[in-house]
Amino acid sequence: MNIKLTNNKSNSDVIVDFITKDELKNQKDKKLLDLAGFCAEQDTICFLHEKGFLACGIDSKSNDDIRSVCSIAIKTLKSAKYKSASFYVNKKNIKAVIEGVVLGGYEYTKYKSEPKKHTLKNINLICDDIKELQDTFEEAIIVAEATCFTRDIVNTIPEDMHPETLAKLSRKLAKENDLECNILDEKTLKKEKCEAMLAVGRASRHESQLIHLTYKPKKKAKKVVTLVGKGLTYDSGGLSLKPSISMVTMKMDKAGACAVLGIIKAISELKLDIEVHAFVGAVENMIGGDAYKPDDVLITRSGKSVEVRNTDAEGRLVLCDVLDYAQEKVKADYIFDFATLTGACMVALGQYTTGVMGHSTKIKHDIMMRASADSGELTGHLPFNRHLKKLLKSEIADISNVASKPYGGAITAGMFLDTFIKDENKDKWLHFDIAGSAYTESAWDCNVYGGTGAGVRLISSFLKNIK
Ligand code: BES
Ligand code: ZN
Ligand code: ZN
Repeated sequence: MNIKLTNNKSNSDVIVDFITKDELKNQKDKKLLDLAGFCAEQDTICFLHEKGFLACGIDSKSNDDIRSVCSIAIKTLKSAKYKSASFYVNKKNIKAVIEGVVLGGYEYTKYKSEPKKHTLKNINLICDDIKELQDTFEEAIIVAEATCFTRDIVNTIPEDMHPETLAKLSRKLAKENDLECNILDEKTLKKEKCEAMLAVGRASRHESQLIHLTYKPKKKAKKVVTLVGKGLTYDSGGLSLKPSISMVTMKMDKAGACAVLGIIKAISELKLDIEVHAFVGAVENMIGGDAYKPDDVLITRSGKSVEVRNTDAEGRLVLCDVLDYAQEKVKADYIFDFATLTGACMVALGQYTTGVMGHSTKIKHDIMMRASADSGELTGHLPFNRHLKKLLKSEIADISNVASKPYGGAITAGMFLDTFIKDENKDKWLHFDIAGSAYTESAWDCNVYGGTGAGVRLISSFLKNIK
């Protein structure tokens, strides 16, 4: 689909317009819309085919409402037989329209032998002043496409996307986007003493990989940002095996890694003046005679020992080594990790919201109030506390990989990671639990079945506005 910014109102098959209940009263096609039962309810649409007009109901002109209805409109347009459609845009709503069209119209067809063919080829975004909107247009397209890139990787099946193929894909991204690329295989990971990460991947037939991509701007970097992603290309639970119902969808346990790759892709294409480091721990958590076990004690890269009480709490074991490596390699102003870390995060915040944890009130505020509102990605804060921290005590090692009580599991997982954040970095680090927000089996907002690309729009927005 080709999306173009234009001031030519006359050359497309369908005109799409957004209508509030108030505006409906004065709509020129009110009679026809009335007959069809259209009352401009949010997320309802009415197609007047003879007129080449698609009416979209909205509660308000807010970006959330526009993005949501555009996602519905684009699906209807794609299922019809038109070649082109036009949306009216302005400075305020253009980003929401692009997100609705690109992300709401996203389809993943790699494994379909006969993917549906669509006739819709051209989307025209009609505005009065192209010059005024051009930059916002280009930025929104870059971020939306990076989000689709992330979704594609999340949606790829574990047989096709395992640690080695994820490393290969990262090398390709580095080449295409002029990024530095350093990949540590198992031999190097041993030298690096990443014993916790290696233990998780030991029963897999695929070698674990630590991927490090760097984007350096042409101008002097205003800030240095480290991103760390959980890249469990499959999480069977290991010997603490998941029940079969919960194992389905666990190809999505690499969504943190995919988000981090999508973000560095977006930032390098936006050519922002910040240095970005993306670190990915790519591992497959399997069972077998060589599997790591509940009761094992692992010596992490940092030197701290961890008692394994549940092999399904593997993400934190991978991340503690990658976080330690990343902190040693790069002195960053911000350290953000992304992980589908806990089912408990979904219990706490629901399926739609990313859990945000960390010590810095300032960065949390900037992310949750500004970037979240600007990007439309939902975030919720989960507070650390000293009582929950005690639940991670181990009798035989420095820390246990699971808490001794079941409540507050997203927070105890966050506090486990916190133990591996160096004192000088405490106020630079945030942990994003995207267990709920990264994947969906039913469409909501501009998300369709599968990976959502959670984190890409949120962090791109934050980094774009960094001072
Ligand atoms: N990858 C899962 C978390 C998850 C669950 C992500 C559902 C997305 C959807 C993680 O590795 C895990 O299994 N966590 C355990 C932790 C428990 C053993 C303390 C969980 O959430 O049950
Ligand atoms: Zn797990
Ligand atoms: Zn996992």
